Formats: sequence, structure tokens, C-alpha cells
Amino acid sequence: MNKSTFRASSDVALIKYWGKRDPILRLPENGSISMILQGLETTTTVEFQTDISQDIVTIQGSSNPIETARVIQHLERIRKRFRIAAYARIQSTNNFPKGTGLSSSGSGFAALTYAIMDALCIDISEKDLSILARLASGTACRCVCGGFVEWKGGSSSDTSYSETIFPADYWDLRDVVVIVNEGMKNVSSTQGHKSARTSPFFPIRQKHINAKLEAVKRCLKNRDFSCLGEIVEAEALEFHSVLLTSQPPLIAWHPGTIEIMQYVQELRQQNIEAYFTINTGFNIHVLTLPLYEKEVRERLINLPSTKKIIMAKVGEKPWKAQHLF
Ligand code: PMV
Repeated sequence: MNKSTFRASSDVALIKYWGKRDPILRLPENGSISMILQGLETTTTVEFQTDISQDIVTIQGSSNPIETARVIQHLERIRKRFRIAAYARIQSTNNFPKGTGLSSSGSGFAALTYAIMDALCIDISEKDLSILARLASGTACRCVCGGFVEWKGGSSSDTSYSETIFPADYWDLRDVVVIVNEGMKNVSSTQGHKSARTSPFFPIRQKHINAKLEAVKRCLKNRDFSCLGEIVEAEALEFHSVLLTSQPPLIAWHPGTIEIMQYVQELRQQNIEAYFTINTGFNIHVLTLPLYEKEVRERLINLPSTKKIIMAKVGEKPWKAQHLF
């Protein structure tokens, strides 16, 4: 077989990966923990063909040179490692807006890595898939796994990979994803990782990050949602404090982002348990329990800043899907 299709879910970082100790190997400054999101997915078909003389990459129906180059770089890496000569035709599609801070590179490179390896009939462990995906995208290193995932920072390429710490059916959490804008974000994670150390708050973050990771694991273990939500929301604000105080300063939020953040805090005052987190974009993840999901969705959809809502729950690792061509 030389053709394969995989569908992979994006994730939401509960504790963020921010800063790269080694930008080439993509070794992170700190470990991170995320929840894989069923509902925000990328589907990718890879076919190695003998009748083409270069790779052909189509994402969401078009070929953007920057995205294509990144995909080909990943293909090259794999071809070199496994001594493959053939070129590939690749088609990929997302069911959520890409480049808006919803980790489309995570689901994208996780689906791509699984599909390439399967199309080549090369069987490697989940750990090795995670290491391979990490070389293309930090977030993808987590998106090769399912459920609640920990990416251990690691001290070398072989020790920097992700593992499921609790499976998808361990705890039924919901993510009400609020889209305030479908346009591309103006804060690039790649640039932001580079400038992380310029923030005076970065060393402070680094000092307590391991304690925070342990605290999140305890909340997950005890299925203690208030404890988890408090940490996750405070972590998002701390992370954005680093962005805001980096050189140059990175302001990811739109006015609508702030409206939603404040509204989520108001919901809690009305005893509706919900907590927000945000990556480098302006769209917001609102975490809640199944009990409050409907109410949270209905309240948020009626806010002037909400353009669209995507509902997500805890997802599985990438799975085989129908070919796109
Ligand atoms: O994978 P990257 O380079 O897009 O970095 C993503 C970083 C955050 O989304 C801000 C945090 C995270 O851990 O997902």
C-alpha cells in the first residue's frame, strides 16, 4: 500500500508549551499538558506516486508556499531517515479555522505524520511518532496521542515526547470554542517562542512551572474541575503576561476576546462552572462540565463578539479515515 488517510484532533494546552530550548530539535523550555479535542480535526491523505517529479501539497483546496514548504520539509526528513525516493501527493482539510490559535498545526502534522508512515508501511511506536511529529510542530508532538496528554520537556530528542496520562473516557470534559474572528492571527508562535526569554516574567514562570504541571495532574487524577479550571485560567493569563511583556510585545487578543473572558468570569459568579484559556490567537476555549455545556453555549452564542461556536470533547489519538482523493 502507498496511500493512507488519517484524521487527527487538535488539542488545547492546559499548561502551555512556550519557548524552545533548541529550535532545530524543537525541544521546549518546559513540559506541557493538553486535552485532545474531538470536534477540531484535520484529515490528510498521502499517496506516494511514481509518475510525479515533485511533491504536490494542497491544504484547504489551495497551495500556500509557506505551508507547502513546511510539509515538504517534514516529508524530506522522513524520506532521508527511512531512505525513501518517491514523491508524494498530499491533500489536507480542516473542519475548523486554521491559523487562528486553535492548534491547527498540531492536528495537521499529527495527521500528516501518521499518514506518511502508514502509506510507507513503516510501523513505528507512538513514542517515535511523537518524536517525529515534534520535529515538524511542537503541538503535533502531543496530538499523536489521545485523551489527556503530557509532553515531557526532555533533555534530548529521544526524551522529548508525549504520552497519554489519562485516556479520553477518563473524564468527560467539554470545550466550548468561541470564534471571535476567523481571520489569521497576527501573533506568530514561531516568533513568540524566540522572544519568550525577553520577558522579565519568563524566569518567574519557569521557576514554578513544574509545580504547576504536578498540580494539574493532581486535579486530573481527582477529577476536580474547580481546581483544574482555576489553574488553567491563571496559566492562560500568566502566559499572556509573558507575551505582553516580550520584546517586541505580542498582543494576541481582540476586543471580543476580552468580552468573552470577562463573561466567563461572570458565569462563575452565577454558579455556572466554566474557565477560559487562550493560545497565541484571539479565539477562546471555554472549558466546562457536561452539566453546564448547554447553558454555557447558549449564553456565549448570544454575545455580540461571538461569530461562531465549535463544541468539542476529549478526543482519541489519530485514526484511519476515508481518502480525500
Ligand atoms: O506548536 P506551536 O509552535 O504553534 O506552539 C504552540 C504554543 C501554544 O499554543 C501557545 C501553547 C501550547 O502548548 O499549545
